[in-house]
Amino acid sequence: MASFSIDPGVKSMRTEQAVPVRLVDYRPPDWLVETVALDVSLDPTRTRVRARLKLKPNPQAAAPAAVVLDGDELVLRAVTLDGEALAADAYVATPDRLTILQPPNRPFVLETETELDPTANTKLMGLYRSGKAYTTQCEAEGFRRITYFPDRPDVMAVFTTRIEADKAEAPVLLANGNLADAGDVLGTTRHYAVWHDPFPKPSYLFALVGGALGVIEDSFTTMSGRKVALKIFVEPGKESRADYAMGALKRAMRWDEQAFGREYDLDIFMIVAVSYFNMGAMENKGLNIFNDKNVLASQETATDADFNSVEAIIAHEYFHNWTGNRITCRDWFQLCLKEGLTVFRDQEFSSDIRSRPVKRIADVRALRGHQFVEDAGPLAHPVRPEAYREISNFYTATIYEKGAEVVRMLKTLLGPAKFRAGMDLYFERHDGRAATVDEFVACFADAADYDLTQFMRWYRQAGTPELAVEANYDAGAKTCTLEITQMLPPTPGQPVKEPMVIPLAIGFLGPDGRDRPVTLAGGPTLERGVVTLTQAKQTFAFTGLDERPVMSLNRGFSAPIKLTANLRDGDLAFLAAHDSDSFNRWQAVQTLATALLIENVAAHRGGAPKRGADELIVALAAIIGDHGLDPAYVAQAMAMPTEGDIAREIGTDVDPDAIFAARRELRAAVGRALGSALEAAYVRMTDKGPYSPDAASAGRRSLKNLALDLAAAGDPGAGVARAAKQYRDADNMTDRMASLGVLSLYAGPERQEALDDFYRRYDGDALVIDKWFALQAVIPEPETLDRVRALTAHPAFSLANPNRVRALVGNFVQANQTQFNRADGAGYAFHADTMIALDAINPQVAARLMTAFRSWRALEPVRRGHAEEALKRVAAAPNLSRDVNDIVARSLGTG
Ligand code: PHE
Ligand code: ZN
Repeated sequence: MASFSIDPGVKSMRTEQAVPVRLVDYRPPDWLVETVALDVSLDPTRTRVRARLKLKPNPQAAAPAAVVLDGDELVLRAVTLDGEALAADAYVATPDRLTILQPPNRPFVLETETELDPTANTKLMGLYRSGKAYTTQCEAEGFRRITYFPDRPDVMAVFTTRIEADKAEAPVLLANGNLADAGDVLGTTRHYAVWHDPFPKPSYLFALVGGALGVIEDSFTTMSGRKVALKIFVEPGKESRADYAMGALKRAMRWDEQAFGREYDLDIFMIVAVSYFNMGAMENKGLNIFNDKNVLASQETATDADFNSVEAIIAHEYFHNWTGNRITCRDWFQLCLKEGLTVFRDQEFSSDIRSRPVKRIADVRALRGHQFVEDAGPLAHPVRPEAYREISNFYTATIYEKGAEVVRMLKTLLGPAKFRAGMDLYFERHDGRAATVDEFVACFADAADYDLTQFMRWYRQAGTPELAVEANYDAGAKTCTLEITQMLPPTPGQPVKEPMVIPLAIGFLGPDGRDRPVTLAGGPTLERGVVTLTQAKQTFAFTGLDERPVMSLNRGFSAPIKLTANLRDGDLAFLAAHDSDSFNRWQAVQTLATALLIENVAAHRGGAPKRGADELIVALAAIIGDHGLDPAYVAQAMAMPTEGDIAREIGTDVDPDAIFAARRELRAAVGRALGSALEAAYVRMTDKGPYSPDAASAGRRSLKNLALDLAAAGDPGAGVARAAKQYRDADNMTDRMASLGVLSLYAGPERQEALDDFYRRYDGDALVIDKWFALQAVIPEPETLDRVRALTAHPAFSLANPNRVRALVGNFVQANQTQFNRADGAGYAFHADTMIALDAINPQVAARLMTAFRSWRALEPVRRGHAEEALKRVAAAPNLSRDVNDIVARSLGTG
């Protein structure tokens, strides 16, 4: 084996402003990897990795030149080619690249040995330690931090992984695939395990884990009768908190068989929960690795919302086995191919096993709250971006949530049967391959014989389409004419847009509130209640209407758009009372409340008279009084638009203090007006029996806790007393957190007592203590910044733990509108300082949290100035990572 060599001419610090990677520059790889045999000898600070790659020239590539393998902070110890040491001038090794200068033009075997320090790896990419355990994270470009490799998703190889470790330190040794061998290393205290994954996969799906872990085991029999072992590994002692995740996994496996005909393919499926993780979870083949917050759930430690997201994320990662793993992405520009599609699949799963209308409302709330905001600011990008400087920054609401909406629109346009035929064709055509978005869409065009050329604009054009609908009723002709215009605002790099294909589901309500059947006069047909728009301006005439209908537009949120319509006074209240589309019934209440709030925000700033909430209160009273409605749905309908919702709708010259004041007044008015109905709901929704996390029970608790909160807004004295009692009596975390949330809004002894009690009760239980940090970060009062600052010095706080950072800092900057956006700029300054410090430890998490500034241009001038100053200060900080640099530069419009 040859010695280590460094080419002094090659410099490639990751901290430099990187050249963007462009979709148009895509070329197939020169070299393919048939098999990889890894041999990883775990050690806390000196882990040794031997890699044996069977390389072959790619027949689809131009004449292969050098073999160029990616690395990142690697130290090469040795390299051989077909077993022979390489001469020092035959290759160039740097921490981020290994180049074999004149390889033979035929298949050959390359062996490397590298060494790395998992304990020093605070970026949590590659091989690192989470507590005492060893774990890996490779998506998107982390495998290159483990060994030199063509670290791109279109290189798919069969992996065999041997792991060796000290028996006491790491009794459990896991990797992708099926277990092939295991045993002791004779004469030592070490042991080994060999795992073989027969399915070719890209390097980003590689994983290994070593540690002293507890496990729960189960099994699943697939639709063809194969028995699959299921194992969930957790920190010892937390085993019982994984039971819910195991149930969710089995539900997901069954659902994918039934809904998509997809069966699991290995003998074993494993999930490992780790406490240090940059993201939510990762779909590594056969060995999903999860942020433990998305696995562990128990009555005492998790809220209903936590149970809900555990189920959804377990399903999401499992569904990736087909959409992401069996069929992967050709390159990272195609990220939505796996993420948007898999989010769509997990949304459908949750809809089928919980409540479809409630799920749709929750998803649209999230889409508007995150994706619409992203789309309206400097970080806007298409669902399929065309360039990136740092791919980690593209795991965004646009790729995930808007990506899912685009798939949903395909289903709406084609109908369920043809959509399923398109999915089947996709699985058949591309199994085992790295595919593109174009290839995915072509499957639907082919299976349904439908032209999707214009539809592709959803992948290319960023921004949220704005629709204006003008409805005119002609009593003589019994016709309602809809004139619809669509506009797509400019976004960074895309000044001019073309019209989109918009499937708009619509309904016509008669005076009795029931849907009226209509006929579309000429033009495109109205299939399944959907008109399909394709032009900037279009007119549709609907006949057969004896009376003026009330229009219900974009039912079920059939397209991810913003919509305005020439409704008359009273129409929204009518829709809120009668719309047969439960999404639009909810939407009508939201639209009423938003309009009122926007007026009152303006009134707050300008001293104009404020408008009363009477019409909204009537609508809300009808909803809370309708005991036939699903309680979870009622809770969604009664929840006022958030401060973020209002800011987004206002759009420019935003003053968060005025928004907060208007919203607080409205909550108080609603709480007072509906006090007795809220109290009745509180009593009616209080379950006497044992706790269960199922959707129906959770829905009842959501209405109960909404009632607790709104009633307190109307009558703080009684509300605080009720919340304090609920806090003491709670037998589950949902009720405990909800009451603490109410108490946290009212400064006083009850609040501090409860907060102190909470810390004592759950001291040492990291996921619960995260809630304690989070709650204090979102208190909307001027003392909060000092409190947050003090909490960053709390012994339980650490910048190295992403969950803790997100709990405290993330919640402060994302969910505390008034205090992050303080008029004196102190919130921004605190964030800039904290992120500069965090960047040196974990650039990915810092970059993600820096997106809190993404709407800075929409702020009123004083705050806007302070925000710009903070962004510029971060931009000028020395040794900034590529990750943070990219976000800051794009936010400022300089990148
Ligand atoms: N691919 C993961 C998912 O299921 C997300 C992820 C991305 C995790 C990058 C880690 C790193 O959505
Ligand atoms: Zn995913």
